[in-house]
Amino acid sequence: MRQIKPNVYSVGTIDWDRRLFDELIPLPDGTSYNAYLIKGGEKTALLDTVDPTQTMLLIDNIIKIGVDKIDYVVAHHAEQDHSGSIADILALYPQAKVVTNPKCKGMLIDLLHIEEEKFITVEDGETLSLGDKTLRFVYIPWVHWPETLGTYLQEDKIFFPCDFFGSHLATSSLFVDDEPTVYEAAKRYYAEIMMPFRTAIGKNLEKIKALDIDMIAPSHGPVYNRPEFIINAYKEWVSNNVKNEVVLAFISMHESTKKMVEYFVNALIERGITVKQFNLAAVDIGKLAIALVDAATIVLGSPTVLTGAHPQVAYAAILADALRPKTKFASIIGSYGWGGKMIEQITGLISNLKVELLEPVMVKGCPKNDDFAALERLADEILAKHKEPGIEG
Ligand code: FEO
Repeated sequence: MRQIKPNVYSVGTIDWDRRLFDELIPLPDGTSYNAYLIKGGEKTALLDTVDPTQTMLLIDNIIKIGVDKIDYVVAHHAEQDHSGSIADILALYPQAKVVTNPKCKGMLIDLLHIEEEKFITVEDGETLSLGDKTLRFVYIPWVHWPETLGTYLQEDKIFFPCDFFGSHLATSSLFVDDEPTVYEAAKRYYAEIMMPFRTAIGKNLEKIKALDIDMIAPSHGPVYNRPEFIINAYKEWVSNNVKNEVVLAFISMHESTKKMVEYFVNALIERGITVKQFNLAAVDIGKLAIALVDAATIVLGSPTVLTGAHPQVAYAAILADALRPKTKFASIIGSYGWGGKMIEQITGLISNLKVELLEPVMVKGCPKNDDFAALERLADEILAKHKEPGIEG
């Protein structure tokens, strides 16, 4: 338990050991579930709770402050890493009401079976007085669920945006004290969780311009006491601009695809194109997702397994399709023994990406001079495409 401003306490918990979220997303640096307790002159509010695995740590933190009552539990988001302890808090503080918007209320009833009479619903822009402190509620939908709500603490100029601007980072630092480390963690978080909702996030960035913000206190990772650091990073990530970069994700079984990848990577580097290569046999999908935030082009490389792509490459294609990066171009390189339908399969798997498909290079057996020449032509085409407007050199 620590104070971020007078009578505004950080009471969340640090999960140093968690290594997967949703049994999907790698957490190499753990995470935190941030909750904040605001003691007003008349009322006390708890903003969010924590993952149900850490309920007792949250309760310990609240008890240490010495509050004898909680009047409001503000639920910004129904996902259980923030809502999962609400029932325990209501059991401990039975007079407390859950304050949220109507959409989140419905989701909390569905997910946690909280009784309907426990809720107070608020509209976008509505305020709630705690006496000398005023909470203003700001709807920020689709960061990354449809119901998400933020709170602006008017007197202290603190914005609590829940997952928005968060980072999966377990750290004892209450505030950001190492911007490069937090930038990487926040970009990973954006890539894995926020990127599919880039347009909605852009609208929310516009909306919060109206707030005079001194501090951003998200629900994961340290508090930003220099809010422009993370706001500017988000502006860049959601912009339509991409970089002169190729993400090359591949796997090889008997070296044919690997020989193509090695040749192709050199051809791209010789043309001044940044390459981020990922061998999918042992990849941190978070790093792959981060690379997709900015890259102008993605190239998938695969041998043919039975009639299609290697399953690891199909997985990468499905992942990229789900994350919907702003990538503008795509291609496929690979090899086959006697036939197959890999091109049709992969292009079907990335149908959500708004990309122009550049001529794939498929090789029968081990690559020969003609095949390397085809890779040179693909590198030339990528170079030409990367000179188009909106692609930063
Ligand atoms: Fe951190 Fe969407 O929950």
